[in-house]
Amino acid sequence: MKKDVRVAPSILASDFSRLGEEVRAITKAGADFIHIDVMDGHFVPNITVGPSIVRAIRDHSDLPFDVHLMISPVDLYVESFAEAGSDILTAHPEAGPHLHRTIQLIKRCDAKAGVSLNPSTPAEAIGPVINDVDLVLVMSVNPGFGGQMFLHSTLEKIAAIRQMIDSSERDIDLAVDGGITTETAALAVEAGADMLVAGTAIFEGGPERYSENIRALRDSSQ
Ligand code: DX5
Ligand code: ZN
Repeated sequence: MKKDVRVAPSILASDFSRLGEEVRAITKAGADFIHIDVMDGHFVPNITVGPSIVRAIRDHSDLPFDVHLMISPVDLYVESFAEAGSDILTAHPEAGPHLHRTIQLIKRCDAKAGVSLNPSTPAEAIGPVINDVDLVLVMSVNPGFGGQMFLHSTLEKIAAIRQMIDSSERDIDLAVDGGITTETAALAVEAGADMLVAGTAIFEGGPERYSENIRALRDSSQ
């Protein structure tokens, strides 16, 4: 069942020199999750943060940490990210051959399990694990960088996954990640998403704009 739209700011677009402050500011501004993009320079052509940064910012927010693992291999690091304070750990099926094993490992570490699909990965990739996941994260850009343009071809996939989730009758969040603006948020939610991951659109303008930026995304999708 589709829920009220929740907003997950991606701290990739925040000021990394003041990360703790940024996490506090975005929490106060009305975010529902803190989205943390983990990149390894191998699965994606960029490098960001590891478990020590997740741990360092953990005390700066009571919100769930939604940790997006764009790394390969992934299983080796699941436990460290869970121990560092991740509430949701999301892995990519394209990153390795044993998605089911990765999901079970995440659950054994007491985190919720997410699966993220690249733009070129079909909705069907979720089918075999629909009864195991807590979140599906549809990438609406190729993962690796913030500030890219939303790929409209992913809307059909969001709609197909919405149907799969509804038929499963399980409580699964359907998130969209990449190029989210007030315009594209409306399209993604119309297609069936109930969670919006956004970096640029939320962090632009600095801390005094955060609550307005979050509200604009929520309002555009109602
Ligand atoms: C891209 C990341 C996204 C990204 C979103 O690989 O997964 O979370 O930070 O940034 P914007 O909203 O700027 O597209
Ligand atoms: Zn992300």
